[in-house]
Amino acid sequence: MEQKLIISNTMVMSITHCCLATTTSTEGTFVYKDPEQPIALRVKDLLSRMTLEEKIGQMTQIEREVSNSSVIQRYHIGSILSGGGSVPAPKATPELWDNMIDDFQRAALNTRLGIPLLYGIDAVHGNNNVYRATIFPHNVGLGATRDPILVEKIGAATALEVRATGIQYAFAPCVAVCRDPRWGRCYESYSEDPEVVRTMTTIIDGLQGRAPAGWKGPYVQSSNKVAACAKHFVGDGGTRMGINENDTVISYDGLVSIHMRPYFDAVTRGVSSIMASYSSWNGVKMHANRFLLTDVLKGQLGFKGFIISDWQGIDRITSPPDANYTFSILAGIHAGIDMVMVPYMYEQFISNLTYEVKNGNIPMSRIDDAVARILQVKFETGLFEHPYANKELKSFIGQQAHRSLAREAVRKSLVLLKNGKNGGSQLLPLNRDAKKVLVVGAHANDIGLQCGGWTISWHGKAGNTTHGTTILEGIKEAMGDSSEIVYAARPDKDFAKGRGFEYAIVVIGESPYSETQGDNQNLTIPSQGIEILENTCRAVKCLVILISGRPLVVEPYLQYVDAFVSAWLPGTEGNGIADVVFGDYDFVGKLPRTWFRSVAQLPLNIGDKHYDPLFPFGFGLKMGLEKHK
Ligand code: GLC
Repeated sequence: MEQKLIISNTMVMSITHCCLATTTSTEGTFVYKDPEQPIALRVKDLLSRMTLEEKIGQMTQIEREVSNSSVIQRYHIGSILSGGGSVPAPKATPELWDNMIDDFQRAALNTRLGIPLLYGIDAVHGNNNVYRATIFPHNVGLGATRDPILVEKIGAATALEVRATGIQYAFAPCVAVCRDPRWGRCYESYSEDPEVVRTMTTIIDGLQGRAPAGWKGPYVQSSNKVAACAKHFVGDGGTRMGINENDTVISYDGLVSIHMRPYFDAVTRGVSSIMASYSSWNGVKMHANRFLLTDVLKGQLGFKGFIISDWQGIDRITSPPDANYTFSILAGIHAGIDMVMVPYMYEQFISNLTYEVKNGNIPMSRIDDAVARILQVKFETGLFEHPYANKELKSFIGQQAHRSLAREAVRKSLVLLKNGKNGGSQLLPLNRDAKKVLVVGAHANDIGLQCGGWTISWHGKAGNTTHGTTILEGIKEAMGDSSEIVYAARPDKDFAKGRGFEYAIVVIGESPYSETQGDNQNLTIPSQGIEILENTCRAVKCLVILISGRPLVVEPYLQYVDAFVSAWLPGTEGNGIADVVFGDYDFVGKLPRTWFRSVAQLPLNIGDKHYDPLFPFGFGLKMGLEKHK
């Protein structure tokens, strides 16, 4: 028998006694606590029990620096993050990470409904905040490999090293399609070509596990996997002049065909969350764009995970930020933001949002949609059954199998752009039995420089910042004791002259950077690198290895160079470079980006009408070795 219950003039709830969802499962526990119940029912049951305060707490993500048990319990906090470089202590061990996060988790579980926390971190090329973790090549180098299976394996290794520190959520992958290398985040983009970026979304399968065919919604295979986050939706890599967080001026068709395509794949692969971009589309802030976040992403693409704001992304809806926080909250939540990476002013956020809901300016249906999406991911991630760190995983941090995988990725990321001067004999592969060789440049012997940004600290920095193998160490390992290897980080002008070097290896490039700090309008090799190149290569046959997050101005110097390799930002396993330049492996890398002649040409991308690059997208030479491993 069906009764119609009119509960408001717009909503009619049909209640048939036989179909009302039971609130306790057969064992007598609450449905949401019963892992045998379908996740949809668990979400519905839990949501029905939550107060507004508890719901808004789930939408709130705060930084670990302002987190403690009383804040978590008083504000019902649903998520905590480590921002770039935010660690429990310098060189923190996995145990220290586990204990910190378990303490937060214990507080969350000791609340009325015991909803577990989700802890997020930017594991964008390995678990890169964590000392001794394996650091993989940044995405631009992975794009050069054109190897989606390799990238999936990197995702799986990263998931293990993230879980090894008690963390269940990674703000990765960045699926930006960088269209202008002046953008400080271009190295976080796999390619200028959306098709290359799409193929690299296999990393989501590695991070989360492969979703079964036809799966709809977020998918996290097990508690050895993590919830992933495709970012930053949408058009982050298309801003004018590559200015970070700026305006992407493009038609809707262009936005979809270039910048949105990778999200089709991310959603199909069951990505758990998607991060909104700081940037704007034709003048409208993405964090306030209801059409793109709700109508398109949630509606047309059918995304069922949650949308998370970027760091203070709500505040930056206005210029200057926080100019009108009430407006920002209304705009952001209405647009479809589900979880807010506040991450510090959580009292202000929570009280403002509570006010707006209580005063009918934000409907409860919007809050319920956001919280349901968040809970769905938490259930999918297995948090209710396995809320605490698995201490058995700590040995995965920097384990040899992961370092070998990273070394393979380095090999496959290298792009050979020149080999032989003016049609003369090829310099590569190098003679590993040479009597005396010269290695110059700070980048040859510096883990921090070869890893780049988002490594141990937010911006990254030079120095012995974590465990790994430098490029020089790899060269020494490859050449053995019969050769004399002379190294100088900053050689004097005539250092290479008349000292009987058979050849020189010149390793130069950019210093680490991230985000706006990396925006650069002239893209020249830092000056000391140019001096070292000219002084050395005029005196001795030379191989130049460029360590950079993007193509730089090199045309004026190529005339001095016998061989030229782009190594991008290789990460901790610098020995992957020696593997190739000494001929154990041939080059397979292809340019994931157009190599321009001058910045006056930018933006310059494959498919442009007037396309006159120094090296075209997809370019990459081989040494033509007989043996291939
Ligand atoms: C940063 C970045 C974003 C990152 C977030 C948390 O500003 O834009 O990629 O995930 O904040 O660190």
